[in-house]
Amino acid sequence: MEISEELLIKYDVPVPRYTSYPPANYFKDGFTENNFIELMQLSESENPEHIAIYIHIPFCQKICFYCGCNASLMGKGNFVQPYLAALRKEMEMVFRHMDKNRLVSQIHYGGGTPNSLTAETLKEINEFIFSNFKMIDNPEIAIECNPAHLDHDYIDCLKAAGFNRFSLGIQDFNTVILKQVNRDPSRLPVKDLIDYIKESRDDISVNLDFIYGLPGQTIESFSETIREAVNLRPDRLVTFSYAHVPWIKKHQVILEKRGLPGADIKMKMFLAAHDILIEAGYISIGLDHYVLPGDELNVALENHQLHRNFQGYCTRRTTSEVYAFGVSSISQLKMGYSQNIKDLKGYIEAIGKNMLPLEKGYILSDEQMITREIITGLMCNKKISWPEIASRLNVTEDRIKKNINLEKGSLTVFVNDGLLVETPDQIEVTDKGSLFIRNIAATLDKGFSQNGNTYSKSV
Ligand SMILES: C[S@@+](CC[C@H](N)C(=O)[O-])C[C@H]1O[C@@H](n2cnc3c(N)ncnc32)[C@H](O)[C@@H]1O
Ligand code: SF4
Repeated sequence: MEISEELLIKYDVPVPRYTSYPPANYFKDGFTENNFIELMQLSESENPEHIAIYIHIPFCQKICFYCGCNASLMGKGNFVQPYLAALRKEMEMVFRHMDKNRLVSQIHYGGGTPNSLTAETLKEINEFIFSNFKMIDNPEIAIECNPAHLDHDYIDCLKAAGFNRFSLGIQDFNTVILKQVNRDPSRLPVKDLIDYIKESRDDISVNLDFIYGLPGQTIESFSETIREAVNLRPDRLVTFSYAHVPWIKKHQVILEKRGLPGADIKMKMFLAAHDILIEAGYISIGLDHYVLPGDELNVALENHQLHRNFQGYCTRRTTSEVYAFGVSSISQLKMGYSQNIKDLKGYIEAIGKNMLPLEKGYILSDEQMITREIITGLMCNKKISWPEIASRLNVTEDRIKKNINLEKGSLTVFVNDGLLVETPDQIEVTDKGSLFIRNIAATLDKGFSQNGNTYSKSV
């Protein structure tokens, strides 16, 4: 696929990633405990769905210079034990309000580095959840791991604790590039890790994460990394575009000094990786996820059950509503969102005062619920049928179109640039348009305004 420089310049602007709608920067301060309880009650009142639980473990043994996550140095300030006690208490405080007849479909540990804790600690947290809720058949119990700290004994313990989805942050196989970003390579060969994790277990899947756009990476070096990755045949693979937000993550400034690749090189890295993955038989999901054809995400895509949340692409079977615990974590409920305090000390202190550690939140209006359906549908299926959405939400097509400014020709520019095909009944993003899907989504979002440096650029 060829992308002209003109298109790149036109669309490489700051836009939300739309891991939620509205995006997290719309959330409002002053979101109270009563607001959160109201959100929980609303989600339990009509057709309560399965529960997905997200647990944030912020600790890392080193901080990678590119990192955009909520991560803290493990050794700094002796926060680990107080944090674990606070996390447990937060779960008790929230579980108290939840209907215990609802089933848990997913537990996801993200970070930071969840595998910076002992496997016994993670097992205890799982057991605490199992003692409070019944699980669906074949629940997903997922963990994001830094492979620099993984060995066979640890993997055995995670498997015994119920984990069946392992996501390994590889980022790049080139150790010179990893060194530039202050990251240690995998302790064991990645092939050994994958084989050991999956040994005699059909139900376990492994995902590998990569990032393009780091200092020192070239189109050829990143292609080499992706060729190495496809030889390992992971079930899933993600190629993240490096999100540069130094006004939020100050350590990222170091990478500017080391020389970041420009948007044109980044786009070529993405396209080269995309071609290698498709050639190797992977299916592209959304913008940057790739899966083997039998994977649950591909089946979900074909059955229109693909979904998206802060943890990435997922299926509606396992993740509809997310109840999140830990510093900075975001709960995604039917009618809105809440976000916990982002500062580690502040989070622990709030729980110490018997308060839910809420920082922000948002309750969606009826109009925003419609927009959320459209933007999530676009990001997942790259196609929206107006009659289908109208019938699912039980609203008129006119109301839907008005909601997203469609009648004013908002999408014409994308049609003219070959990024979108528009018919009276539907819109469909073209292959070229997939690369700018965040720009298309932003146009459908009435509340979006390009307010300076709030978002990373689209490429
Ligand atoms: C919480 S981290 C993964 C777990 C573990 N801490 C690790 O580093 O392997 C989740 C993923 O986010 C991605 N990531 C982190 N910072 C990013 C950034 N600034 N832009 C794009 N992706 C980023 C990385 O690919 C990383 O694997
Ligand atoms: S990328 Fe992972 S290991 Fe590195 S700082 Fe971020 S969360 Fe920690």
